[in-house]
Amino acid sequence: MSTPQHHPSPRELDDLELLTTGAVHPLTAFNAPGSVLTLDLPTELAAADEVELVDPEGLPLARVAPATGEVTGLTHAQYGPFRRLYLTARQVREQHAGRTVVPVTDALTAPQLEEVRGLGPALLLVFAGHGTSDLSPVALIRATLAAADLLDDAVVVVVPLADHGDAQADHELGVRVAETYAGTDPVHALSDAEDAPYPPTIQAVVDRDLPEPGEQGLVLFFTGLSGSGKSTLARALMDRVLEQGERTVTSLDGDVVRRHLSAGLGFSREDRETNITRIGWVAAEIARHGGVAICSPIAPFASTRATVRGMVEDAGGEFFLVHVATPLEECERRDRKGLYAKARRGEIPDFTGISSPYEEPDDAAVRVDTTGRTIEDALDDVLEALAATGHLDLAPTPAVEPRAAVSPLREEQGTTSALVEQRGTSVSKPTPDTGPIRVLFVCTANICRSAWLEQAARGLARDGLEFSSAGTHGFDSHPMDVVMSGTLDSADDTFRSRRLTRDLIDDADLVLTAERSHRAFILEEHPQALRKVFTLGQFARAAEAHPDLRGRELLATAGQRRAAPLPEDDIDDPYRRGNAAAAAAAGKMSTMLSVIVEALAEED
Ligand code: ADX
Repeated sequence: MSTPQHHPSPRELDDLELLTTGAVHPLTAFNAPGSVLTLDLPTELAAADEVELVDPEGLPLARVAPATGEVTGLTHAQYGPFRRLYLTARQVREQHAGRTVVPVTDALTAPQLEEVRGLGPALLLVFAGHGTSDLSPVALIRATLAAADLLDDAVVVVVPLADHGDAQADHELGVRVAETYAGTDPVHALSDAEDAPYPPTIQAVVDRDLPEPGEQGLVLFFTGLSGSGKSTLARALMDRVLEQGERTVTSLDGDVVRRHLSAGLGFSREDRETNITRIGWVAAEIARHGGVAICSPIAPFASTRATVRGMVEDAGGEFFLVHVATPLEECERRDRKGLYAKARRGEIPDFTGISSPYEEPDDAAVRVDTTGRTIEDALDDVLEALAATGHLDLAPTPAVEPRAAVSPLREEQGTTSALVEQRGTSVSKPTPDTGPIRVLFVCTANICRSAWLEQAARGLARDGLEFSSAGTHGFDSHPMDVVMSGTLDSADDTFRSRRLTRDLIDDADLVLTAERSHRAFILEEHPQALRKVFTLGQFARAAEAHPDLRGRELLATAGQRRAAPLPEDDIDDPYRRGNAAAAAAAGKMSTMLSVIVEALAEED
């Protein structure tokens, strides 16, 4: 096919139809001599007798015969703002003959308005394909309607004619369209209006279409390796936005998105691209409505991140990329979810940084390495860069509590759920603070560790305490693992496993998990439970740190001042690892459990 001058969009086919119905310079084909429109078809379609052009929803718009370039218009769009103003050339000549046609490609300035006033009855023909650099297409129409209101006798007609960045072709096409619409009436080209003021009513339209940076939709996109601190920084930032209270904010965290929006997707390049594009789509919609979206997926591929940037910007939002550049060695050293170890053992394929690439961004607004830094310190870098853009000015992190100012990155931040609770977005049932203290033990499948803990705790038999258990994964109604039950003094044969549910969490006063990963799993989905979910070892240490506190007093204090759960306190999964592993797990749990039960029980 011939060299493309530009690629007609479905909307231009509207123009095309208008042009084909025109009497003055009829245009009946692409690529015809004298035509300013060139259609570039894929080579495999060049031999086709006829090609149907459809809009994004599949509605047929026109047929083209590639051999001759001949076009048959089928329909044009029936919907869209100001659709009633989109008239064909024929309709214009029938309804508005006798007016001077004035092509409009930007909001009219005061001197241009005076110029039009001198022409007598006018027809303002808005070329509103893509708007302008300052105005959306719909605002360009609004501004032109405001101009018509200031004139004695003017009507507004819209043509969806876009600017294609080819000045010559654009000009020729514009002239052709204007002449076709004018028929025998005159066409008036407006003089240049650079820097001239707008009349107030037009200025108001322009201002409304260009929100102040502080009101524009904003997508804060944290990218980086697993364990780099993305989610932690994103959550801390979310807290700051909530504290300020001036913007609505939505979190799109990588792990959480994968449990909902992207459930079922894996980690192949294709699935990751789908995952990130979905996040981008939602974030762009949030930005379209002037909200703030905080995203924290790994997003390892530059091209997918660029796609998201484009989606957000097309929706009128600002895209702010934060590269959480914590090196692989540090992420692997932290290994908070134990995934790097598994990936190194070959148990997780395509693991980012190990067996799947991470493409470092070169377009980040800010780059933060969290190694050896507090969250507050690292967050300040982000806040500073953000404030400099004028999009969101959050005060630097206040050092309210001594521990807030010094907490290392792996320590807990209590503010997220506190704010969630305050703002009433949590629908968690309040836990009554009287009656027996209800303790829920959690592990993976509820057949080894948590089942053991529930029964061993009952064996310690103290008044005022109730024990139950559940698993984050696995199946309902399985009996307890026999090797593990063999380590109990007296096992309950009727025990059956169950899956962890929100109700179980809500009903508990204290949730104790076997490993840090179980705790992280719960908190990601139920951040409102932050103050009552601990690893077994974390709570045992809290009890030891406060020998003077018992029962509910201990719960309250431990909830407020949590030390980080320690890796060495994790109870490794003994499932199918033999008697020795079961005995080791039972021994470790037994020591912790007796400290905990003793501390929770009211004094005799
Ligand atoms: S992305 O590549 O599609 O952006 P996303 O952020 O959603 O990844 O998910 C990453 C999270 O999934 C990690 O934090 C980790 O907990 C988990 N994960 C599981 N398998 C993998 C894997 N193969 N590579 C990276 N992360 C994985």
